[in-house]
Amino acid sequence: MAMCVSRAGSFYHRHVAPLVVHGGCSMSAFTRMRQRVIGGAEGTVVEVGFGSGLNLPHYDPGKVKRLVGIDPDQSMLAIAQREMARATVRAQCLQASGQSIPLETGYADTAVASYALCTIPDPSAALGEIRRILKPGGRLLFLEHGRSEHWHGRVQDRLNRPWRFIAGGCNLNRAPTELIERAGFALLESNRERFATSLWLLGNHYSGVAAPR
Ligand SMILES: C[S@@+](CC[C@H](N)C(=O)[O-])C[C@H]1O[C@@H](n2cnc3c(N)ncnc32)[C@H](O)[C@@H]1O
Repeated sequence: MAMCVSRAGSFYHRHVAPLVVHGGCSMSAFTRMRQRVIGGAEGTVVEVGFGSGLNLPHYDPGKVKRLVGIDPDQSMLAIAQREMARATVRAQCLQASGQSIPLETGYADTAVASYALCTIPDPSAALGEIRRILKPGGRLLFLEHGRSEHWHGRVQDRLNRPWRFIAGGCNLNRAPTELIERAGFALLESNRERFATSLWLLGNHYSGVAAPR
């Protein structure tokens, strides 16, 4: 029980969890998905839950005019600075919550949610904000993991609380495409596959493109 109370200021959450999350999100299964999806971003791009900037090498500098990364966690953004120094796209970070994005309505051509809807405390609020900042005709690119519909799903439910503590607030058992549709987006492309056996605890791997209805 004590493990699962909010410890935003604890030593573990400030110094260890960011490295755990960065290391985990650097695994090849995620990198392959980033390679497949992130190149679709164009124009003014807002990435919500920017983390340690692991998508940066996958943006196409010929298509992205500017990139704004939003994340409330200073420790994650500090790791992102290393990637930012090497980035070929024009990028800046804002330390802010995706649940209240400090950008004007209709700001972005593309929004990106990459392994972020699992962690943002109120993903519906963040998706509402993403809708607001998208221009008419704008698109949301998503890469996420979520609850399996097989027996794994029940294990994910049981392990969610300790996992959330270890993995910087990440939830194992959310349903990203349902969240996206419920927030008023239409799925233009949607792919779901299972993670490899070694990563079975992560359940399903989702990717796709959505647009406000
Ligand atoms: C699993 S990491 C993924 C990072 C990155 N998008 C990636 O693909 O590697 C989840 C990120 O969501 C961020 N996050 C947590 N709460 C948030 C919020 N309210 N708004 C935006 N991002 C948030 C965390 O700080 C963390 O950097």
